[in-house]
Parts: sequence; C-alpha cells; structure tokens
Amino acid sequence: MITINNVLMPDETRKTITREYHEDITIDGSNLLALPGLIDPHVHFRVPGLEDKEDWQHASIAAIKGGYTTVFDMPNTKPATTTKERLDNKFQIINQQLSEVDMPLRYKLFFGADKNQFHEIVKVKDDIVGIKVFMGASTGDLLMDDESSLHAIYALAKVHGLIIALHAEDELIIRNNAAKYADETDFKYHSIIREPEAAVKAVDLVIKLTEIYGVTSYILHLSTIGELELVKKAKERGLPVFVETCPHYLFLDESMYPTLNGRGKMNPPLRTKNDQDILWNALNDGVIDTIGSDHAPHKLGEKEQPLCKCPSGVPGIETTLPLMLTAWKQNKVKLSKVIELTHANPQKIFSLAKNDDLVLVDIVTSKILTDENMATKCKWTPFVGMELIGFPRFVFTQNRLIDCEKI
Ligand code: DOR
Ligand code: ZN
Repeated sequence: MITINNVLMPDETRKTITREYHEDITIDGSNLLALPGLIDPHVHFRVPGLEDKEDWQHASIAAIKGGYTTVFDMPNTKPATTTKERLDNKFQIINQQLSEVDMPLRYKLFFGADKNQFHEIVKVKDDIVGIKVFMGASTGDLLMDDESSLHAIYALAKVHGLIIALHAEDELIIRNNAAKYADETDFKYHSIIREPEAAVKAVDLVIKLTEIYGVTSYILHLSTIGELELVKKAKERGLPVFVETCPHYLFLDESMYPTLNGRGKMNPPLRTKNDQDILWNALNDGVIDTIGSDHAPHKLGEKEQPLCKCPSGVPGIETTLPLMLTAWKQNKVKLSKVIELTHANPQKIFSLAKNDDLVLVDIVTSKILTDENMATKCKWTPFVGMELIGFPRFVFTQNRLIDCEKI
C-alpha cells in the first residue's frame, strides 16, 4: 500500500490518501498537492518520420514529469496518419518506444482527415479518439480547406459518432497575407500573416457545420477575442462546441517577439496582451473547456533560422502544469478550474474511462526553467527563465509509482 500523509487535496483540505501497491511506502505529503492524472488532448510526439524532433522515449518521460498520464497524439507525421495501415503501424511503433523506456503512458490517436482517404474512416472508427482537420496548413502536408470536403467529413463523423478536432485558420487569408509580406523578416509578421480574422473566419464555419450536422466539434488552440465571441454565442445556443487554449497564449504574447524570435513562432500565432487578458477571463468563466499543450517540438537549430525557414511549434507538455499552478498561487485561477481544464473536461468531452492515476505535485519548491533541464528530445522551452512552482514529484499510474526525479 502507498500512503500519502497530510497531502493537499483539490478542494484545498488536507488528507491521508492511499493506493493499493505491492510494497508498503509512506510519503510525507506536507509539501505536496494530490491531483488526478492529467490529460493532454493535443500533442505532437512526431512518430513516425520526425524522430529527429521528438520520439515517445523522450516525450513519455516529459509527459510523466509534467503530470500527464494520458495524451492524445496528432496525425501530422511523416507519413500522415490517414489510413488504417498507417494507424496500425503507428500504434506498433509507439508501443515499442514506450516499452523501451518502460513508461506507462496512456495514449490515444487522432486520425488525419484527407479527402482522398475518407473510405478509411470506417475501418478505424473504433480505434481513434477523433478526426483531426487542418483547415489551414501547418507542419506537415495535411490540409482540407475546401467546403465540400468539410461537409463530407462532418457527414461521415455524424454517421460514425466521431468527434472532429479542428485546426481552425482560413487558408486563403493566410496565403494572401504570406504573399503580401513575403519579404518581411521580423518575427512579428508571423502574427500579421496569420491574422486573427483567419481564425475567426474558420471558427465561424466550424460553428455552422456543427449546427448543420450536430457533430461534436473540438476547436484546438483558440487564441483570439473574436473566436471567443463566436464560441460563447454557439454555446449559449446549446451547440456541441468545445474549445481548447494553450499555455503559450496564456503566458506569452506578441510583444515578446524581440526576445523570443523563432521560439515564439507557432500556429496559430501569438496574439496581443488584450487577447490574453480576455482568454483568462473566458477560462475562468467556463467558456474555455480545456488546456492542451500543443507540444510541437522542433530542433533548436531549426527554430533559430530566419522567419521564412523557421518551423511553427513549441514544446510544452512538461511546463503546462507548473505554469498553471504558479498562476493559481498568484490568484489568477482557482485550483478547481485547473483540474477541470486539464483533467475533468477532457475526460468528459472524449468519454474517457475513469482511472485512479494520481500526481503528487511539489507546490513549495520553485525552479527556474532552463533548456538543459527539459526532458523533451528538443531540449528547449519558450518559457525559459521563468520561475515556477508546481513540478510533479511522484506519479502513480497503472500500479506503478514513478519518482519524477529519477526518470
Ligand atoms: O505551431 C504548430 N505546430 N501548429 C500546428 O498546427 C502544428 C504544430 C506542429 O506539428 O509543428
Ligand atoms: Zn497542434
């Protein structure tokens, strides 16, 4: 039996809690907070084909160290996960990589929407967590920006009872802006090219499709005030629209490009401080349902290239919880809200089975984030230099007790 004495609980009382275990272990919980195993609904662990950026040997350790016991991985790999054969192959490689490091990470996979492979969906519908649609192009070659294909995928999702997760940015707006600002080199142009209107226009279409087909839409990485306004109205009308935001929109903004440069380049891009303030309000008011890290590693060398060559995406799975718990300590968000966003809501939206996973988080010791201390294969963080509390100390999952300082 594992016994954790005097541990802080999500309701902010102190208790002794236990888990069945093959040994007797007692842990002093005085400095620890007990959380359920977190669920990250949005990661890019890059397998297969992009293992130079990330793999499951590294990412699973980064996830557990970050307090996550379940992740949903995205299909924009090489090749993209758009057929049953590729999906089965991906499961095999992941299981192999997890067994190499003996990490008990729970995971589910999104299937990529490709208008030439719609017939594959019926074959995989019971093996996937949902369908991912890229309405605007990003890392990889997945793109479905024509309305007739979007209608077709919603019709299919309706028949098979699948959730659609959307990268909602309008491809045409982005392409026109990219041509207009093709010679610009300042990273701030990334936010100008992928302007808020691109996201707003795509979210507007998502809401229309949700209404027509009655399919659950999960809008990934929401970042602007305009999108929030649309989503709020859609929710008030009872539409099954759920929204995620990411730590980079909550803790970074476009005024930081001069120091971040390529480390601040992701899709959708960083927004204004005003967007950020409104995101925090929406998160506290329950308009935002989840936080996904959008853990999207690229090599530091790639991120140090000029704007036109620098790939979009930032790692984040091992920093999301400390960022949110530091915000809790600063009274920016309630503890119960952090748990809703990172555990209870993703569990409900994606109908995950309950488990007894437990994360014991040190809420006393602060640490300054450094690139070298990151467990992710790419070894850097856009939040470098920040001083945070809330790093997991032990994780219990699938009858295993993992000491986060020993992995
Ligand atoms: O910044 C991003 N990076 N946005 C995406 O949509 C994809 C991701 C990646 O896979 O690199
Ligand atoms: Zn993503």
